[in-house]
Amino acid sequence: MTDPKYRPRRSCLYMPASNTRALDKAKGLAADTIIFDLEDAVAPDAKDQARENACAALQSGDYGERELVVRINAMDTPWFAKDLRHACRSGADAVLVPKILNADDIIQITRLMDEHADSPKTRLWAMIEMPQAILKLAEIAALGLDQRLTTFVMGFNDLAKEMRAGHDRATFLPVMTQAVIAARAYGLDILDSVYNDFSDPAGLEAECLQASKLGFDGKTLIHPAQIEIANRAFSPDPKEIDEAQAIIAAFADPANAGKGVIVVDGKMTELLHLKQAKQLVATAQAIEALAR
Ligand code: COA
Ligand code: MG
Repeated sequence: MTDPKYRPRRSCLYMPASNTRALDKAKGLAADTIIFDLEDAVAPDAKDQARENACAALQSGDYGERELVVRINAMDTPWFAKDLRHACRSGADAVLVPKILNADDIIQITRLMDEHADSPKTRLWAMIEMPQAILKLAEIAALGLDQRLTTFVMGFNDLAKEMRAGHDRATFLPVMTQAVIAARAYGLDILDSVYNDFSDPAGLEAECLQASKLGFDGKTLIHPAQIEIANRAFSPDPKEIDEAQAIIAAFADPANAGKGVIVVDGKMTELLHLKQAKQLVATAQAIEALAR
């Protein structure tokens, strides 16, 4: 593996943790990541029960190799501290915190997570959905170097509301590019926002392919029908894998030993392309390993 940290996050399915039928169904779904939601999809009266359900699910061992994440309530709500503590102690792979405003929020949450000494493995994911966070993307991402922060998750439903904008994808393209640049500058992963119309597979596929081209690792989803589309769109296609393997083979050819630039399939190919090719093959292998 070129990047030992790499883990497929093509399809990250939210489900309200108050919905026990959905929690149960998720055990058999092909989502790379399951996000148990305690926030917007859960009514205030159901918050405590949802937290209990999520913690029981985390501890059940019933979700196989899937990555398990809990989206907790925001820092300014009465549920935040308890959600954070319980999610960490139940062994969540990550806690996703909504309505992050700035780097101080990340520092504060990380300190609280450190206090839960039994949760060294739980990572922090940040929802990027507030205008304030967009203005501070670089400062927030920079904390990824030494804090628990590993992943940005875009939230365009909230961002549209805050901006008083419509849901036209064009509105968010500049933000998507900026967020990918900030994430990559500091080694974070980044996931696209949800596609609300779960009965429109073509629209979802177009968004997934667009996000993949922009550099996103995967898409957050709201319905099981969306999983396969996201898995396909964020997997390298066979033609790309063949091209990558041809580049690796060409550089391994003794005739090209010591060369920094060669010609493969009529195209200039440099050592940076070799690195990219190895990364792509490693990604394909990690995805294949999941399918077993
Ligand atoms: N995770 C797991 N299972 C889900 C699911 C999800 N997100 N959404 C639907 N399902 C299940 C249903 O329980 C149902 O299972 P069943 O056939 O065994 O009864 C099946 O998939 C088909 O569901 P369907 O009837 O098409 O949808 P619905 O009307 O029950 O639910 C939503 C529609 C939008 C309410 C539901 O998909 C949902 O709650 N999505 C997640 C919302 C969320 O978490 N939002 C926060 C982040 S934006
Ligand atoms: Mg939100």
